[in-house]
Order: sequence, then structure tokens, then C-alpha cells
Amino acid sequence: MYLILLGPPGSGKGTQAERLCKQLDLPHVASGDLFRDHLKRETDLGKLARSYIDKGQLVPDDVTIAMVKERLSRSDCRGGTILDGFPRTQAQAEALDLLLQELGQQLTGVLFMAVPDDVLIERLSGRRICRNCQAPYHVLFSPPREAQTCDLCSGELYQRDDDQPETIKARLDVYHKQTAPLIKFYKGANLLHEVDGNIGIDQVTDSLLTIIRSLQP
Ligand code: AP5
Ligand code: MG
Repeated sequence: MYLILLGPPGSGKGTQAERLCKQLDLPHVASGDLFRDHLKRETDLGKLARSYIDKGQLVPDDVTIAMVKERLSRSDCRGGTILDGFPRTQAQAEALDLLLQELGQQLTGVLFMAVPDDVLIERLSGRRICRNCQAPYHVLFSPPREAQTCDLCSGELYQRDDDQPETIKARLDVYHKQTAPLIKFYKGANLLHEVDGNIGIDQVTDSLLTIIRSLQP
């Protein structure tokens, strides 16, 4: 199964991908997490990506596509994957189609989580992330059992640099201009399934699983 989680920043892509991957035993491929790993290791790609991520802009398509292509070509993705945060532009969507063709695979479905902007701002402002395994938390909506500590791996929680008010606004603008058009694109391809992302975390997982179980791999 090759599934895409599509949605604005803060819609719950990372939160839901983590749960779905466990349930379905699929690897989680998140372009944002891949970039943050490069930032942490201070690679050349990480240094390039930082200049875009800090401004809330998209990293250029050619480097993003090459990074995701390398990840999807690894053996653990042979049986499918859940893509989180990729594709985000028309060029990335077309590159993914080609890549899956090369791998002899095809997209199973695109799950779009709809959440209004004011809710997204509230979610991103209170988000905390595990420095070690990147699991997302929220100070009010999804707090860890122990303050500042990841429930899953005991890693330290931190606030992402791009979760500051100015950058959140820029990311939302970029989403509406560059990524939202993919909703129409995938609707046209008969692959889009929309869920209400503005309900409880468990209920969103249930809605997504119901759709996924109805899809033919
Ligand atoms: P990325 O890391 O992908 O960030 P994003 O798309 O902005 O999405 P987020 O991770 O902010 O939100 P999410 O949907 O995962 O929500 P989460 O589950 O954490 O990208 C970062 C940057 O990298 C980009 O800005 C760009 O520069 C670059 N980049 C990445 N991919 C790229 C690409 N393909 N092309 C070019 N550049 C790229 O949830 C958010 C919060 O809400 C959490 O606190 C969570 O606990 C809470 N929450 C979740 N669900 C619920 C719920 N149902 N109810 C209440 N609270 C909830
Ligand atoms: Mg995320």
C-alpha cells in the first residue's frame, strides 16, 4: 500500500502517520523529518534546507525529490509506505508517479485531512516534538505522561523553530498557494479521500483506518 497523508501544517499528518504505520506495519516516510535529520547532522543538504525551513518556505523540488527518491528506494519500502508531507507541489506529485512506475508500484490512495486555519495555529503553537524519535505532542491536546519527556522513547521534548507565529503564518500561506491545488489533482485521478481532521485524535485514526480498509492495495 502506498498512501499519502495530505493536509496543511498542523493537520495531524505526523500524529496519524505514526499510528497508522504501527497498525498497518508500514514505514513512515516524512519529508520534514528527513530534512530535520539532515539539519541535526549538519549535512550540506541540511544547511541548504535550513534557509527555507526557517522562513516557512518549501525546499526546492529537485533536492526534495532526490531525497525522497533515495528513501523510497530502500528495501523497507518495497511493500509500501505512508508518505507524510510529500508531495507538496505539482512537480513533486508528478515525480512520485514516475518513481512508483519505476518501482513497478502505484498509489493506493491519498488521505486528505481538513482542518480550519485558526485550529491549525492553535495546534502548532502548542506542539512539542521528541528530539530523538520525532513523535509529536501538544501541551494541551496530547501532553506526555511526564513533562518534557517522550512517552515512547524517553527522549527530550522541544519546540520546533518553525512553530513561531510568523513562520506558522508563512507556512499556511505556502500551503494554500502551492500544496492545496493537489487536492483537485488527486480528486481528478480518483484517489482522494477526505476526512474531518478537526475531531479527536482517536476518531481521526478510526476514520482513516475505515477508508484504508476499503481500498484495494
Ligand atoms: P513538515 O515537518 O512536513 O511540517 P508541516 O507540513 O508544516 O506539518 P507539521 O509537521 O507542522 O504538521 P502535521 O500535519 O505533521 O501535524 P502534527 O501531527 O505534528 O515540514 C517542515 C518544513 O520542511 C516545511 O515547512 C518545508 O520547509 C520543508 N518541507 C517538508 N516537506 C517538504 C516538501 N515535500 N517539499 C518542500 N519542502 C518541504 O500535529 C500538530 C499538533 O497538533 C501536535 O501538537 C499534535 O499533538 C496536535 N494534534 C494533532 N492532531 C490533533 C487532533 N485531532 N486534535 C487535537 N490536537 C491534535
Ligand atoms: Mg509533521
